[in-house]
Amino acid sequence: AMPAAVSSAASAPAHVLLICFPSQGHVNPMLRLAKRIASKGLLVTFSSVSSIGAKLAAAAGVTAGGDGSPVGRGRVRFDFLDDGEPPNPDLDSLMLHLATAGPPAFASQLARQAASGRPVSGVVANPFMPWATDVATDAGIPTAVLWVQSVAVFSLYYHHVHGLAEFPPEDDKAARFTLPGLPEMSAADVPSFLLPSNPFKLLADAIITQFRTLGRASWVLVNSFAELEADAAAALPGVGPPSPPELIPVGPLIEMEDGESGGEEVRGDMLKAEEECVEWLDAQPERSVVYASVGSVVVLSPAEVAEMAHGLASTGRPFLWVVRPETQPHLPDGFLEGEGKKGMVVAWSPQEKVLAHKATACFLTHCGWNSTLETVAAGVPVVAFPQWGDQCTDARFLVEELGMGVRLLRGGGSSAAAEAEAETEAQLTREAVRDAVEDAVAGPRAEEMRANAARWSKAAREAVAPGGSS
Ligand code: UDX
Repeated sequence: AMPAAVSSAASAPAHVLLICFPSQGHVNPMLRLAKRIASKGLLVTFSSVSSIGAKLAAAAGVTAGGDGSPVGRGRVRFDFLDDGEPPNPDLDSLMLHLATAGPPAFASQLARQAASGRPVSGVVANPFMPWATDVATDAGIPTAVLWVQSVAVFSLYYHHVHGLAEFPPEDDKAARFTLPGLPEMSAADVPSFLLPSNPFKLLADAIITQFRTLGRASWVLVNSFAELEADAAAALPGVGPPSPPELIPVGPLIEMEDGESGGEEVRGDMLKAEEECVEWLDAQPERSVVYASVGSVVVLSPAEVAEMAHGLASTGRPFLWVVRPETQPHLPDGFLEGEGKKGMVVAWSPQEKVLAHKATACFLTHCGWNSTLETVAAGVPVVAFPQWGDQCTDARFLVEELGMGVRLLRGGGSSAAAEAEAETEAQLTREAVRDAVEDAVAGPRAEEMRANAARWSKAAREAVAPGGSS
């Protein structure tokens, strides 16, 4: 049945406003969902905090109109919250700032839309900002939330938040646990925010708090697809009490090739993508390039950047490596002119174009869920190098369940650095990088991993094609 607020707005076009948590891993899936909804003929506004509006404007050419005039490119309008700037740019300060500044700013944004003749008939909120669901629901606006991680990760969080599971101690590497619909797991496969050693306390709190308002939303959408996570999804309704909400698969949220985004392409980049790297790829042999990126938030230590550099160079293969601006000073001196001369380093890539390129052979990835789905959709095998959070679970699925990659482990190889650190914490070594890349591209299982990746790619594309499961 059509919720009242949608059907009663028959005079004005239905207007969906998506309000997004200000980080790249959230902006990308939410903007892609916005474009899909707009392609169905609805009026769509993409919203986030004002500081993100400025970044999107600079990197992706997005413009915002606080006065409510139709702006942006393609069919999606942009309108950002007037929340003032957070005192500090770090994530924790931003979270604290939003908890107080967010609700009144969002309420007044909704009022502004109504006053300018575009009353909001539906909201898609981000569970990372539980107050957005509260504000919209209190205003009588039907609200969906978009879960931007996997069903498996949702299930693990859900079990934890409601005291339905206990994970083994982290130092007991051999211990395994089972939960309905999930493969047998160890503590290393659990989103690390749920483990005692997690250093990101505020972030973990925010993630756990999401579950408070999930129940208030009318729908919970998930960036996944039925075929990919059939077992986890099938088992979820039986979990509890309390019973989890139904998860509605809408993924993989990837850029569509069918022009459905309408008009000019608009991307949600917060750093400007260096498109020249696509021309560089054009000049490389088919299936020869190692693409490496750790996404938008992971920071490798200076020592790890150096090992990664030497490791990539020692494969003898061309490589395209995303090294964000703050990390570039840690590249070895003269790297690209010397041992790294077969490679290209960019501050930010147009990742989906890179993954779709015929020159790309494998993806050395931190296994953020967007990168995971994008490489699944492109059918590119991985070298999995998860760091924290859901990346640990995603790596487990990519390598062991989907069979489309190998792991890069700290403590592999035999460099002096590894020996020196052996007593303390396991370190990344250049030998481990080289060996993992070789395994993924040319090892005895490389062909099988490529075939698995191709199979998952087909399933992903079918899920979002007309008549598909998403
Ligand atoms: C964060 C978390 O780390 C991740 O674990 C969680 O699932 C989502 O939020 P992030 O680390 O940035 O995200 O990784 P990911 O989820 O992979 O998202 C990165 C996005 O940026 C992807 O859509 C990717 O295509 C894009 N990207 C990355 C680029 O367009 N260019 C780049 O150079 C690197």
